[in-house]
This record gives sequence, C-alpha cells and structure tokens, in this order.
Amino acid sequence: MSFWRVWAICLFLRCKSYSSPVKKIAILASGSGSNAEEIMKYFQNSQKGNIVLIGSNKKEAFVLERAKKFDVPTFTFDKSQLEEGQVTKKLKEAEVDFVVLAGFLLKIPDNLLQAYPNHIVNIHPALLPNYGGKGMYGIKVHQAVKDAGDKETGITIHLVNENYDEGKIIFQAAVPVNLEDSPEDIAKKVHQLEYKYFPNVIESLL
Ligand code: GRF
Repeated sequence: MSFWRVWAICLFLRCKSYSSPVKKIAILASGSGSNAEEIMKYFQNSQKGNIVLIGSNKKEAFVLERAKKFDVPTFTFDKSQLEEGQVTKKLKEAEVDFVVLAGFLLKIPDNLLQAYPNHIVNIHPALLPNYGGKGMYGIKVHQAVKDAGDKETGITIHLVNENYDEGKIIFQAAVPVNLEDSPEDIAKKVHQLEYKYFPNVIESLL
C-alpha cells in the first residue's frame, strides 16, 4: 500500500474518532423520574450518548429505583454538598460530558455551571417565560395554567443558567387545554409531550 493511501486511511480514522465519541450523560432528578426512565430507555439504542450516572438530592426518590432496571449507577447528595462542589467533582470523575435535569428541584450552583457551560439542560412543564421561576414546579404550574384559563400549555427545554428557568430556550411544544381539564389532566398531557420530545432533543444537543 502506498504511503499516501496509508496516510489517508489514518486521517479518516482519526477524524472519525474525534467527530463521534459517545457522550457521557448524567441525569439529576429529585422525584419520580418518569422522564429519566424515558431518557434511559431511549439512550439504550443511541450511538451518540450513554447515561452513565443518576444523581438525586432525595434518598427516597423513585428515580433511584428506576435506574436499577437500566443498571445505571446512582448517587445521592444534599444541598450543601451540591453547593460545595461535591456533585461537580463526582460528575467530573465519571467523565460526564452533559448534564440533564429531569425534575431536579435545587438551584444549580456556580461551580456546576462553570464546569459545564451550556452543557446543562432542563425541562420545564409549561411554555416559558410563563409559569416559571422559583417555586413553580409540579402541579402548581398546571394549577396556575388552569386558573389563568389558558387554552394551551406545553413544555420548554432550555439551557440552564444562574436563574431558575431563564436559560436559552432550545425547544417548545404546545398542547391544548380544555375547560374541563383538571390540573392532573393537564399534567398527564404535558408528561406525554415530555416523553415524546425530551430524549430526542437531548440527543440533538450532544
Ligand atoms: C416534569 O414535569 C418536568 O417538566 C419537571 O419535573 C417533572 C418531573 O417529572 N421539571 P418526572 O419525575 O420525570 O415524572
């Protein structure tokens, strides 16, 4: 084989290995983790990403049970450990490239934002900038949508910055709200949208 042919093959292999390494993803969640489960399911068949770690600030969070089904290692921590940088350290030790917040209720501290600039994504169960900010989570969001008489609601997937629900919006999808829908009905519709789009949007961000 000629020198140039060998050189071209090496170049191709080198480019290939630089352009498509499988990204390591960690999920942080505080509760049930139904989104986390959909994400774990999705990435079982992805060439682009792999869920390597699930972290929770609640020892009893059901997301930890869900992780067992997928053999994904888990860890727990409290607010001060997050603020002191121990979560960041754990993610770096696991060589995590990308962080997904899926129902994670604590504020992301500067040490984590700086370690993962534009590499932390969150999902919010409403059409931001409406119904966002501190204290707006879970059924409270859907109750507020109902109280306002809105005809539609939806999901917002956004990058995370230093303020709750204010990072750059990546994706939104809407669903109609009917007069007779209860907040629980709205929550169900919104969850269906989340399952449909969140894994896919994460993959496209990697
Ligand atoms: C989701 O509705 C998500 O939008 C919000 O928290 C909820 C988490 O639900 N950030 P689950 O734990 O994934 O079931």
